[in-house]
Amino acid sequence: MLAAGGVVAFPTETVYGLGADARRDDAVGRIFAAKGRPSDNPLIVHVADRRTVDALAERVEDLERALMDAFWPGPLTLVLAARAGAVSPRVTAGLSTVAVRMPAHEVALRLVERSACPLAAPSANRSGRPSPTTASHVREDLDGLIDGIVDGGPTPGGLESTVVRLVAGALHVLRPGGVTAEQLAAVVGRGVPVLTAPAGPARHEPALDPPRSPGVRYAHYAPRGEMLLVSGADDATRIAAVREAAADARRAGRRVGVLACSEHADRFAEVAERVLDLGARARPEEAARRLYTLLRQCDALGLEVVVAEGVPERGLGAALMDRLRKAAGGRERRV
Ligand code: TXA
Ligand code: MG
Repeated sequence: MLAAGGVVAFPTETVYGLGADARRDDAVGRIFAAKGRPSDNPLIVHVADRRTVDALAERVEDLERALMDAFWPGPLTLVLAARAGAVSPRVTAGLSTVAVRMPAHEVALRLVERSACPLAAPSANRSGRPSPTTASHVREDLDGLIDGIVDGGPTPGGLESTVVRLVAGALHVLRPGGVTAEQLAAVVGRGVPVLTAPAGPARHEPALDPPRSPGVRYAHYAPRGEMLLVSGADDATRIAAVREAAADARRAGRRVGVLACSEHADRFAEVAERVLDLGARARPEEAARRLYTLLRQCDALGLEVVVAEGVPERGLGAALMDRLRKAAGGRERRV
């Protein structure tokens, strides 16, 4: 199917991707059509070997090679200077850069190898929906719109890859993900700052703006109900604020869900119709694995208000909070 210009969903270690031959305009166009994705949001190219990277990129800096050595195959996407003509201009949305990653998943790697083409693949969800972490999530969103799904079971990571770009001696994290800022800093060393993008929309003076991913301009993963994120370091204060917000919404006659860590789940049972369990507070990888399934459940349950308990913003917690903020559309109560 891929060789014939079709679009096929497949598992990676992060989320399911929707793949097509990155060199073909028509095939790549089908990805945008199936997802309903704006054409100015570029795609990640998935490779199975390092030689292909040199064919896609105009040049690769030593530091970029060091990052590939350290984290590939794995959830790190590098935005590199693009080699002209190597992929369809639709993949890069006309930019001079190309995003590349080597996934740490047997199925994804074999699919790239056996189709003999670099696979352009965004997450296999309809635009604005949570990324799919199972084949049935893909079917929910894209049934009838794509040519096939390779079902490799649930994806082990659950959050999308970290997207980075090296500019003027600094490593910019354009999207936090499975590889943490702490891990990146340990590889690039003291001389290279690792900079994370501030939250919020881009400003209008491009010269003052740090590099960004076009993707951060778009709304993401919003459940149909209204979501509120409650963040803060003190457990008791945070729990009280979640309880209060949930109880208020319930008194107003709305169907309320709470998204919380396992340890605190029973504190919310009486103020919510449903408590959705993010897993142990000390194990953010559990929350990462579950988050998108839980957000889809919020919709399936018809919840009108979802109050989410924030997690500590270090390590993988930074990527989790980024996704929770996006799901909440910026509604955050810091306590
Ligand atoms: O884990 C992942 O990265 C998954 C799996 C399938 O590999 N893919 C994924 O793709 O999350 P997508 O399209 O949902 O997100 C790609 C992100 C977007 O925010 C996009 O704007 C950014 O990468 N991106 C792609 N090419 C870029 C470029 N040349 N410069 C800056 N950002 C780029
Ligand atoms: Mg996506």
